[in-house]
Parts: sequence; C-alpha cells; structure tokens
Amino acid sequence: MNKMAASMVQSGEDAFRKIFKFYKRRNPPPDFSDVIDFSRGEQSDKVVAVKLDPAAVSDVEAARVGLQPVKNWKAFSLQGYPGFIFISNPFLLGSQPFWVRQCLKTYPQKPNICNLDMHMSPSDTQDIWGKSIHGLSFSPTGKREAKTLLERLRWVTLGYHYNWDTKTYSANHYTPFPTDLHLLSVQITAACGFPGFVAEAGILNYYRSDSSLGIHVDESELDHSRPLLSLSFGQSAVFLLGGTRRQDPPTAMYMHSGDIMVLSGQSRLLYHAVPRIVPALQGRTALDMESHSLDSTLQDRTVVEPVSDQDWAVCSNYIQSSRVNVTVRQVLGPGQNFPETPNTSHQRSDTSQTVECGPADREIGKRKRSSSCDSVDTVHETDYYSNT
Ligand code: OGA
Ligand code: MN
Repeated sequence: MNKMAASMVQSGEDAFRKIFKFYKRRNPPPDFSDVIDFSRGEQSDKVVAVKLDPAAVSDVEAARVGLQPVKNWKAFSLQGYPGFIFISNPFLLGSQPFWVRQCLKTYPQKPNICNLDMHMSPSDTQDIWGKSIHGLSFSPTGKREAKTLLERLRWVTLGYHYNWDTKTYSANHYTPFPTDLHLLSVQITAACGFPGFVAEAGILNYYRSDSSLGIHVDESELDHSRPLLSLSFGQSAVFLLGGTRRQDPPTAMYMHSGDIMVLSGQSRLLYHAVPRIVPALQGRTALDMESHSLDSTLQDRTVVEPVSDQDWAVCSNYIQSSRVNVTVRQVLGPGQNFPETPNTSHQRSDTSQTVECGPADREIGKRKRSSSCDSVDTVHETDYYSNT
C-alpha cells in the first residue's frame, strides 16, 4: 500500500470506496502524485517491465490491426497483482483513429445494443452516427439545444449481450462479434501468452469529462481462466485496481489513449473502478491520432483502413472531451456451454425479449443507469457454439 492510501484508510473499512471518493472529488481536486503513469516507464518500484512473446504475433499480423511489432511494445507488470499486464500504447502512429471511428460509428450500429435502446425505438437508434454528425462536426458556438445521440451514448454491447439486471450472458442473446475487434484481441492476448482467445462479448463505455464507473468485479463470464482485455481511447482516466475484498486499498494508475490492460490469473477477478476522467496531456492525443489517413504502406490485407476527413472531424471533436473504453471478454471456455436454465426466458421462442437495464452497482455519468427495463426486438436466437 502506498503512503497516502495507508494514511487514509483504517483496517476493516471499505478502503476502495474511500479512495474512489478521494479521486472523484472536485473541490478541492485530489493529489494525483500516487497515480502510476506507465507511460513514464518503471517510475515506481511496483512497476516492472516485462517482455512479451514477439514470436506469438508476426510484425505483419500486428500491423494489420494497427499495432507495432510486439518486440517494441512497452509492457509492464505490477507488483502484488499477478496476471496483470499493462501495455503502454502499442498502436502504430495513425492507427488509433480507425479504432476510434469503429467505436463511434460502427459498433453502436444494429444489431449491437446500446443504452439508448432502453428508451427509444429501434428506428430511432438505427443510425446514431448519421443523426449526430451535424451537431458534432460543427463546434457549437453558444448554447446548443439538445445533445446529439452520440453524446448520449453511454454503453454498447457486442457478441453475447450483457444483461445488466441479471448480470448474465445467455446463449439466446447473441449477435456476431465484430471480426476486426476479434482479430485485434487475438493478437494482443497471443502476445501476452494466451493463444486461442475467442472474443465473445464486448462492452464499450463512453465517458464524458465528469463520468465515472463504479466499483465492480467482472465475474459474469463462465470461464475465468481466459483473460479480460481493456482498451482505451481519447481522454485519460484514473483507473483503480483493488483486491478481492473491498477493504483492500486499490492502486491508482492512469489509462491514456491507446493503452491496453490484460487482466488474467489472480488479477482477473479483482475489484476495479474508474473514479475520474482527466484531460490527456496537451498535444498527446493529437500526436497519437496524427496522420489519420494512414499511409497505405500496409498492403491490402490490412484491417485498419484510413478514416475519411469527414469522419475524423466528428471523431476528433468527440474525443476532445470524451473517453471510450472497450472491454473484450471470452465468456465460455473451449467446449463449454451455457448451463440449462429452467426459467421462462430460456424457453422463449419469439424474437423479442426484455433486456438489460442499468447495472445496480456500476455507474457511468451522473446518475445510475435506469433500472426500468424496456423491451427491444433485436434478439438473434443464435447458438454460437453449435454453429461454429
Ligand atoms: C468495464 C470496466 C474500465 C474502464 O467495462 O468492466 O471495468 O477503464 N471498464 O473503463
Ligand atoms: Mn470491469
């Protein structure tokens, strides 16, 4: 435990909550001096540089998804957190804009599910990007009437759609996982020593500058031996990684644009949270996002395509005050299936189902996600494993 955490918490109390509130505080702002910044290398004695396996991913495969050769990645472990790997922005210069555009333009599209579907009809959430670009590409001068749909987007789910109420995934609520994000996840996890990762569920979180994400553990996946991957773009965040108990004081670290975390082994089931979004260092995001019209030195088989000037105008405007986090999860182990559940939703044979609402213990934005369910009718009755 660092000095500040030790002086702040008493034994037996909810140390995580106390430190979460400390970093969330606005007035006066907290002291950030204990926040680990991996972009500065082995700045703290808890941070240890690790070598990943450059043979697991060829330089060409890495470049296809916009990553540098694995031998150049700056990867770290953290003392006291076995299985935790932090990769400090391994993206090739100019490739982050592609992933930002996917998160803002592509992944919120149907059949994926987002928070807006809880209160709006499918036709209203059909083209979030198209309905938002006018308001976003022209920087508002003075007061704007209504927020664009993109600005109201808080989460999107991919693959097995997470049910925020029951905290479960289910076989009958699945839509195809994006192949580009699957490929990116496979390369990252392979380099970290996890061959054969299958990206089956994704949660995208969209943060404004005053958003936070409450204290939680990701334990709904059925196989915890598979790593959980987390990628961030845009503004920076303070991320807290705790222990298996709320009394364990968490370690604070920055997550900057392009940074990746791999949570595996003992670190897979730890409490964590995002108490605060912090502005990216002046010019930093701009530099990372530079040359968004990626030089096509990358031949044809590349996944990462250039982003048009028009799309980039919208994306860059959005991420100037926002952060997007993507978590990618393998839900089932090899050969594993969802357990048979005797409840009625499993026996449903039509294509509509009452789905997820706001999670009880996770908070994004200023208020908790709603706990009243809406009905949506975009459920695809696909049994992924029996079909592949
Ligand atoms: C999550 C999560 C962390 C982040 O979505 O489960 O923990 O950095 N996200 O946004
Ligand atoms: Mn989480």
